[in-house]
Amino acid sequence: MANSARLTSRQVDFQVALLKWYRLHARKLPWRESPSLYRTVVSEFMLQQTQVKTMLPYFARWHEQLPDFKALAAASEAKVLKLWEGLGYYSRARNLHKLAQAVAAMPQMPITPEAWRELPGIGPYTAAAITSISFGTPAAVVDGNVVRILARLTADETPYRDSSAAAKVYAPLADQLLNHDHPGDHNQAMMELGATVCLKHNPLCTICPVREHCAGYRNGNPASYPRLAPKKMEQVTVIRAWCLHRGRLLLHRTPATARRLANQHELPTAAQLGLDPETMQKGKLLAKKRRGITRYQITELIYSANAPHRLPNPDLLWVPLTELETISLSGPHRRWVHDLLD
Ligand code: ADE
Repeated sequence: MANSARLTSRQVDFQVALLKWYRLHARKLPWRESPSLYRTVVSEFMLQQTQVKTMLPYFARWHEQLPDFKALAAASEAKVLKLWEGLGYYSRARNLHKLAQAVAAMPQMPITPEAWRELPGIGPYTAAAITSISFGTPAAVVDGNVVRILARLTADETPYRDSSAAAKVYAPLADQLLNHDHPGDHNQAMMELGATVCLKHNPLCTICPVREHCAGYRNGNPASYPRLAPKKMEQVTVIRAWCLHRGRLLLHRTPATARRLANQHELPTAAQLGLDPETMQKGKLLAKKRRGITRYQITELIYSANAPHRLPNPDLLWVPLTELETISLSGPHRRWVHDLLD
């Protein structure tokens, strides 16, 4: 074992118990069953802000249409965004597209975490995940799941501003615990333990393979770790218009140059239509939707409205209902539109 000189026997026991558990109990996921660098990269991008069960159908569809870096590099952005539609955080899709184009132009694949970090959309976590899984590089991953495990293992009472602040502090401990003989499986085992056993609110300690090593389990209050400051949520209300006229729906398409939501269609807001929100609220309220995005608690109110005769901006488009399936609608807008058309 390459790093055993620094390891106590308890650390070795931890690594062995974790790996054994992973090999017996890990979920059978497509990028684990038949791994390749491309599948690992796509899975890591999709999993950056999305849970495994949500992304699996997207992962399958993606690989049917874009089976390798070359196909992805050659695809149009519209096709890439369409395949991503519903996963949200579209900058991930655009970065993955750019990454494929960059990689396709390179004489050989980068293999170090540092070289991967030069590529679009790759932070320390993704660089460590890709290189450990694909090349066996000894780089430990630290994300929210790993922070939770390490805080519980050490019953760390330190208050952290948020999970990313804690991740920076835990990086040395994660490196120290990393199994240098099997860094990819070790990292995936930590992710798996966080996702299926060491759960945020309800840790399943009775089936945990490393509970003997866990100070949080011993002190009887594992769920209280990590000690993170409560998120300050901001309330935001968005007024949107439902303008349906002669089989066409008025939508707003975010300009292609925008950093977020480029080329994505949405129901237009009062501001985009140049309508007074108070006047709009005198119309019929068709739907009230709540969603949380990072620290924003957003209430979306969709009102029936008459579109202004002269549309005030060129990003407003009357889209025939028959074409709705072929355009990219952002986030939950497709669901809302379907619900309102029913
Ligand atoms: N989350 C991020 N990467 C993952 C992986 N490879 N397996 C499961 N969950 C993950």
